[in-house]
Amino acid sequence: MKAVRCTALGPPEGLAVQEVPSPRPGPGQVRVAVAAAGVNFPDTLIIQGKYQLRPELPFTPGAEFAGRVLEVGAGIEQVAPGDAVVGFAGWGAFAEEAVAEGQNVQKLPPGIDPVVAACFAMAYGTSWHALQDRARLQRGETLLVLGASGGVGLAAVELGKKLGARVIAAASSAEKRAACRTQGADELVDYSQPGWRAAVQALLGGKGVDVVYDAVGGAWAEPALRLMAWNGRYLVVGFAGGEIPRIPLNLPLLKGYSIVGVYWGEMARRQPREHQASLAQLFGWLASGALRPVISARYPMARAGEALRAILDRKVTGKVALVMK
Ligand SMILES: NC(=O)c1ccc[n+]([C@@H]2O[C@H](COP(=O)([O-])OP(=O)(O)OC[C@H]3O[C@@H](n4cnc5c(N)ncnc54)[C@H](OP(=O)(O)O)[C@@H]3O)[C@@H](O)[C@H]2O)c1
Repeated sequence: MKAVRCTALGPPEGLAVQEVPSPRPGPGQVRVAVAAAGVNFPDTLIIQGKYQLRPELPFTPGAEFAGRVLEVGAGIEQVAPGDAVVGFAGWGAFAEEAVAEGQNVQKLPPGIDPVVAACFAMAYGTSWHALQDRARLQRGETLLVLGASGGVGLAAVELGKKLGARVIAAASSAEKRAACRTQGADELVDYSQPGWRAAVQALLGGKGVDVVYDAVGGAWAEPALRLMAWNGRYLVVGFAGGEIPRIPLNLPLLKGYSIVGVYWGEMARRQPREHQASLAQLFGWLASGALRPVISARYPMARAGEALRAILDRKVTGKVALVMK
């Protein structure tokens, strides 16, 4: 089978499609013919050795996929060969076939495009876990999303509206902000401008932000931390801006707010039942048309490096997919 291979840590341009043996499922694992894989920011980190997961070289990147079950290992009963599924592998999904742990593979409800399904679980799972489980976002609260036009950010905008919040979306271009508006954002802020904190303050009418969803970190974090309301929750989701911010801890003390970590993959491992329940709910909403993920580009497997480069160069709105056939 063909797979995208990372043979040395480095930029996406170093990736190449190679012929490799089909992976074999061990006990409790599932082998899938991959129809499409979601491309995520962490994929850009894992190939550079900058992510918390560090597979041995050479390896195949790609965290999530949709496809059909080919083979199941001992002990797997929830899916069978031929079933349409979505799954999370951590790495290995940018390939014609992938293997994942059974607890990370779910049947796909009928009627969902596998390309959409492949791009869905990480973005919406992360943002649902962040807003619902970690922030306990309440109807009528204000939610500020930093990096709002990206994969997890646009999902946070849509889910924040679903939870009844007033959503302020921060993104760097008019086109990206227009995508946030289409996903339901109430207010738009150009956070590439130096005065962006004052622009948010003007929208708040003297109040603070109840929940900040921060997927970018870097120089954006401190101004956002200074916007927080009493009893607010600041969600640490990611550092797409590159730099992990250092926080003056007097800020949460003075304003009585919480800084809350979000790690969806680890939640899925530690709390599998809650994870499955969340995914079932999210995929149900997707199947009914209540959620409308934005997939702005589809690449063939041979152009995986270009897909990852587009993410690194901030050229993506919503999600991009690798389509295997
Ligand atoms: N905690 C978790 O469980 C979890 C799960 C999934 C992802 N993440 C993390 O969340 C972050 C976003 O992931 P994603 O998949 O949504 O990525 P994405 O689609 O690439 O979106 C990232 C957004 O960040 C902004 N950005 C600012 N500076 C950037 C830079 N130097 N390079 C790239 N983007 C930059 C971009 O929007 P503008 O151009 O508008 O600034 C972009 O839309 C990543 O750090 C990822 O590792 C965390």
